[in-house]
Amino acid sequence: MLKKLLLSALLAPILSHGVLAQNQTQSEIAMKIESLLSKMTLEEKIGQLNQYTARWEMTGPAPTGSSEQELLEEIKNGKVGSMLNVTGAEATMKAQKLAVENTRLGIPLIFGYDVIHGYKTMFPIPLATASSWDPSAAELSAHVAAVEAAASGIQWTFAPMVDISRDARWGRVMEGAGEDPYLGTKMATAQVRGFQGNNLSADNTIAACAKHFAAYGFVEAGRDYNTVDISEYTLQNVVLPPFKAAVDAGVATLMNSFNVIGGIPSTANPHLLRDILKGEWGFDGFVVSDWNSIGEIKNHGVAPDLKEAARLAIIAGSDMDMEGYAYLPFLKQLVEEGLVDEALIDDAARRVLRVKFELGLFDDPYKYSKLDEKGLILNEENLKAAREVAKKSIVLLKNENNLLPLKKAGQKIAVIGDLADDKDSPIGSWRAQAITGSAVSLLEGIENAVEDQSSVVFERGPVFISNEPQFTQHLQYNETDPSGIEEAVELAKEMDVVVLALGENCFQTGEGRSQTDITLKGYQQELLEAVCEVNKNVVVVLMNGRPLVINWMAEHVPAIVEAWHLGSEAGNAIADVLFGDYNPAGKLTVSFPRSVGQCPIYYNHFSTGRAADTGTVFWSHYTDESNDPLFPFGYGLSYTTFDYSDLNLSAGEITADQKLKVSVVVKNTGVFDGEEVVQLYVQDLYGSIARPVKELKGFEKIFLKAGESKTVEFELGAADLAFFGVDKTWKAEPGNFNLWVGTNSQSGLKGAFKLK
Ligand code: NOJ
Repeated sequence: MLKKLLLSALLAPILSHGVLAQNQTQSEIAMKIESLLSKMTLEEKIGQLNQYTARWEMTGPAPTGSSEQELLEEIKNGKVGSMLNVTGAEATMKAQKLAVENTRLGIPLIFGYDVIHGYKTMFPIPLATASSWDPSAAELSAHVAAVEAAASGIQWTFAPMVDISRDARWGRVMEGAGEDPYLGTKMATAQVRGFQGNNLSADNTIAACAKHFAAYGFVEAGRDYNTVDISEYTLQNVVLPPFKAAVDAGVATLMNSFNVIGGIPSTANPHLLRDILKGEWGFDGFVVSDWNSIGEIKNHGVAPDLKEAARLAIIAGSDMDMEGYAYLPFLKQLVEEGLVDEALIDDAARRVLRVKFELGLFDDPYKYSKLDEKGLILNEENLKAAREVAKKSIVLLKNENNLLPLKKAGQKIAVIGDLADDKDSPIGSWRAQAITGSAVSLLEGIENAVEDQSSVVFERGPVFISNEPQFTQHLQYNETDPSGIEEAVELAKEMDVVVLALGENCFQTGEGRSQTDITLKGYQQELLEAVCEVNKNVVVVLMNGRPLVINWMAEHVPAIVEAWHLGSEAGNAIADVLFGDYNPAGKLTVSFPRSVGQCPIYYNHFSTGRAADTGTVFWSHYTDESNDPLFPFGYGLSYTTFDYSDLNLSAGEITADQKLKVSVVVKNTGVFDGEEVVQLYVQDLYGSIARPVKELKGFEKIFLKAGESKTVEFELGAADLAFFGVDKTWKAEPGNFNLWVGTNSQSGLKGAFKLK
């Protein structure tokens, strides 16, 4: 172990993620770290591994450790390396002064915060942004968030969440890129780039944190914090690729996940942290625990007490203790008793210090607290960017008889639903410093877009939530008072078209918000059916953070716009789509189930031994529901139509060192200009282990004018076909492959080739 650590210390300058503080080379930083480490006492090193939350804002269970006063004293005594949830130039400056001016070595704190999809200017929730299939949109969202967070004294975000999830019950589906590892890697890379840029010490970048390592999205039955029990196959082929991509993109930190995998808490899993992450992948940043996930090793029943939990976590490779109160009290004792090698503490401290050096904190610990906080946050430019990303995130699920786009004049529009004038829900869960109620509502967006505002009339319908939504409390849905339905119906009768907002309150999703029922809550279904009875031109605008079961709606409503929680500019972005100023091009990155009983549901499943309908009961199916999703992965419509033709493969066979060129002609056959996400899927017909029925291996978003055609080309090589197989290595196995190029995971032109 010691030898391995020493080696990683020596290799650090070479393996480094290459995101450097200005004018500092990695070897200069390495020298500075070693010189500083040599001056540090064991207590001071352990202090660097300790992270506390500010007492005034908490994103987890209330701290049981020190009081606020004690905490301030501990900072002054060098016992704290990082704080989370301290925000604002003034507050961070104050806390930083405590560390820099009072501690023996003046080592600055690093301030971390959950800047997930915006800081004050809110961008769409990450699941929505992923639906753009546009990595540059994800990068822009992360970049603006970094600019604003940095201007508010933050140097480190706990994002991106790169957890793959296949289960809509899990509340945190909203925070990731969906169910597919290939798309997940593209989004992870883009987000890391957006947060960190090329230079971590620049004023407009912050350190990113890929989380939650690992497999947190696979909690059993979609219940948050629950057990995970997945195979090494799934871990390697599905869960880890986005983390690997984040590491390759230079992510500065990773966060542990709360769950166990095969009974081993991730926070105490040396195979994950030492063998894979810090060994195989050469990661030289640091790993922060999740909120008390070191303490929770005890709750998992894997350590009898906090001291043993601390021992397991540091040995496994968890470098910083977030709110676990485990490292500070016990690590020194563990070293003195010979139960923990001091080299492990050195290694962890070295990693933390490296990120602080790279951020430029040793050059000027206050620099993030001296930026133009007012000018950089929530300005016009940022809001414009938020609107751009928001409109790209919208997915058109249905548009019968071209009901959409609507005309801006000459028709009377009823806007109905409690969510329609909600200025808060569009901000979404994980909202950092967003101002409550500051989003452009759907109603406002529509009013801004039409020529004559008097053509738009709003009717709330039944109240949706009957308590004040809050971050830490459960919502209560109104399930007792249907009043408002009648008024909504009366209005719908008189109007040419109805825009009906339905879905989820923002606090229905996010951490700690798993659900067993993913249909519409409250009186929304009743309202929908009543309105549809009197008006045939109903456009449902869905606002939600997870796939919903909307079978009735999909069958009876002519137009459905999936608008997620789109952030500050939500209403304007939705109106851009409703009125055709922007032709929607988003595609789902999660399958929409027909029933919660289908969860987990995902397109890249195995075939099973009994996939074909035998006409008896003895095949893999449900007796009361189809196997298919309501809307598949990759699905999304446009106001125009695209025709795919001329699929061409450069060869019928390739060797491991050759590339297969795949081309297809895509034509815009409608009357609107528009974008299309051209998707390439592959099926490895058989392997040493079962292979998915389809896997996304490429995509390209193209713009075509009405009538225009374009040839889209992809390249496939052995590396793209490789998987972690029975011999526990990544390689492509020779054999036959199918491929499809098309508009979603369930359609496409089909070809075949052989890998020799
Ligand atoms: C717990 C969450 O799981 C994690 O994602 C978040 O970053 C921390 N709390 C800090 O708020």
